[in-house]
Amino acid sequence: MRHFLSLKDYTKQEILEIISLGIEIKNELKSGEINSYMPNKTLAMIFEKSSTRTRVSFETGIYQLGGHGLFLSNRDIHLGRGEPVKDTARVISSMNDMVMIRTFKHSMIEEFASYSKVPVINGLTDSYHPVQLLADYMTLVEHKHTDNLKVAYVGDGNNMTHSWLMLASKLGFELRVATPKGYECDADILALAEKFAKESGAKISIYNDPVKAVKDATVVTTDTWASMGQEDEKEQRIKDFKGYKVDDKLMSYADKDALFLHCLPAYREQEVSESVLESTKSIVFDEAENRLHAQKGLMVWLDRKNRS
Ligand code: CP
Ligand code: NVA
Repeated sequence: MRHFLSLKDYTKQEILEIISLGIEIKNELKSGEINSYMPNKTLAMIFEKSSTRTRVSFETGIYQLGGHGLFLSNRDIHLGRGEPVKDTARVISSMNDMVMIRTFKHSMIEEFASYSKVPVINGLTDSYHPVQLLADYMTLVEHKHTDNLKVAYVGDGNNMTHSWLMLASKLGFELRVATPKGYECDADILALAEKFAKESGAKISIYNDPVKAVKDATVVTTDTWASMGQEDEKEQRIKDFKGYKVDDKLMSYADKDALFLHCLPAYREQEVSESVLESTKSIVFDEAENRLHAQKGLMVWLDRKNRS
């Protein structure tokens, strides 16, 4: 059984295959061709955190593939009242063809997957957000921006940073990460990325200085300074992240054709200025739309893989 919990479990070839399939299905949709790749299949979507893009893209995506999505918030199902993960997993996976989960601890999704009879997709945990990276890389492919790729991630060492570490180290491109002191990425995840980087030829550099990371970068990206579950730390983080805003000045150190990515939601004048977010370098709304197309590619890929 193949699940999609982290890019660490995927090869370069598989990641590129999923993205190509997403682009193929996107092109069919854009040309008016409707193909039911997953007729009558159901996707159960468990949300323990808020979402705009993940919910809308998965629900719309499974519908466009000929199937149906069930939105299950933890306020509505017994998981939120303490029914064990292993029981929830066995019940939900006995009635559905695929499950997507957005939750806090990554271990929850691993436990769920170990009891699930059907593929489980990570729709974001505290550790990783792998479906976002499928859309991000797909957007760079479409913008013909993957040659000599040098990505600078500026901000909190969080689930997005960890996912960039996995993508870069699997695909073999250069990634520079700049976080304030005390907000570095997880040491074990970094060590894993360094191990993969040795095999793929990726170059990974870690800084506490945004300018060093951004210098000559071909892509600059950031994320919120306070992720879901860290709302109480917001005020402190705004102080601690001083100097980490991606603004025109910081972008001026990047390559002249550099593009800007952000998984969204964005907090204007915190991690990114309005001017950068709305500039011609910013491809954040192509990136957001590609959540739909990349995840359709992923669902079809998983469905085929687990049938063959
Ligand atoms: N980028 C992302 O996952 O957005 P949502 O939180 O709106 O799903
Ligand atoms: N790091 C953010 C990403 C939101 C899509 C969070 O976990 O809240």
